[in-house]
Amino acid sequence: MIEQETIAPHGGQLINRRASGQLTTELKQQLPILKSITIDAWALSDINCIAIGAFSPLTGFLNEADYRSVVQNIRLANGLVWSIPITLAVSEEQAKTLQIGEKVVLTGENGIDYAVITVESIYEVDQLLEAQNVYKTTDIAHPGVAKLMQRSNIYVGGPIDVIELPQPERFQEFYFDPAQTRENFKNKGWRTVVGFQTRNPVHRAHEYIQKTAMEIVDGLFLNPLVGETKSDDVPADVRMRSYIALLNAYYPKNRVFLGVFPAAMRYAGPREAIFHAIVRKNYGCTHFIVGRDHAGVGDYYGTYEAQDIFRNFTSAELGITPLFFEHSFFCKACGNMASSKTCPHDKENHVHLSGTKVREMLRDGLCPPEEFSRPEVAKILIEGIRKTVVTEGAGI
Ligand code: ADX
Repeated sequence: MIEQETIAPHGGQLINRRASGQLTTELKQQLPILKSITIDAWALSDINCIAIGAFSPLTGFLNEADYRSVVQNIRLANGLVWSIPITLAVSEEQAKTLQIGEKVVLTGENGIDYAVITVESIYEVDQLLEAQNVYKTTDIAHPGVAKLMQRSNIYVGGPIDVIELPQPERFQEFYFDPAQTRENFKNKGWRTVVGFQTRNPVHRAHEYIQKTAMEIVDGLFLNPLVGETKSDDVPADVRMRSYIALLNAYYPKNRVFLGVFPAAMRYAGPREAIFHAIVRKNYGCTHFIVGRDHAGVGDYYGTYEAQDIFRNFTSAELGITPLFFEHSFFCKACGNMASSKTCPHDKENHVHLSGTKVREMLRDGLCPPEEFSRPEVAKILIEGIRKTVVTEGAGI
């Protein structure tokens, strides 16, 4: 079987919205006379992802036609599958001052002018409808819905040109844009690459599904999300230390590539699984892991809903092959990791710990059982918790 050299980005072309050369000079000259929209960390991470092509084919924030189509049909107006609305909210007062066709600078809370948007549409949305369709709930206890409802319901859409790419404060060496990851996979001689999304420390179940996938592809792209997450998720810097320790101790160096995904977490379950898969295709992955309750939170989604949603699209439409995994655990009777597909034993034999229980143990300085978490990982998490509690008073 002849396999294609590299997988095509979503929509066929890798987007690059980093202004360069003459365009940068021109935009910088115009900055003093442009109106400015102040953007928060969330919008900034979207700008970053659009700029580097992670969100290809998006060239900016969704215009009205694309937004309505994404919310209703999980597709852009041209029919291309797209599941999460990437939008820029502005206040009503600000919206009144803007005109279609004008350029507006997008300024960070730190005063840095990051990008210029060319306003294509200014539109009012029904946020309850967006919440229901995207998150499958309007409950503001859902972190994604809460975030949505905090924003104005007036959005500005249009292409952006980025003049200042946000600079990571830490772990710079793990930031790669999709063009770089593609190049890297090629240099390693990988024709098939499985992408792994995570917002958590990698526990034994994650390791098991990654390694099961690694048996059938050339390489693993461990691509932890490091943008905004909810406050009780483990902070990204602690997680990064734990990934590095895990990879050093338990993975063959030439089969794994660690690079971060700078997006914010939406917790949109099924829709976010589609989004995560498409984005990893842009990074050059041919396969993508979707396990239990992917990108879920609380009880908002069924255990395998994030897998079921893939049935609504043809493989040609998605372009990336999802690899579905059942809920995995360590079985004491089997003496190894398993799932209901491979283990015949009762639940009593299965090592299962809830997130809350694990957090409690780590806070008390206790290592979860080795069947649940590698000791190297647990050690880093315990240290991380202590530091976080002391320095920030935040939970883990
Ligand atoms: S997520 O929000 O990024 O999906 P997490 O980092 O916990 O959360 O999960 C990363 C991936 O591992 C997801 O595809 C998820 O479905 C999968 N996963 C997590 N735990 C398990 C498990 N015990 N069994 C099978 N898959 C799992």
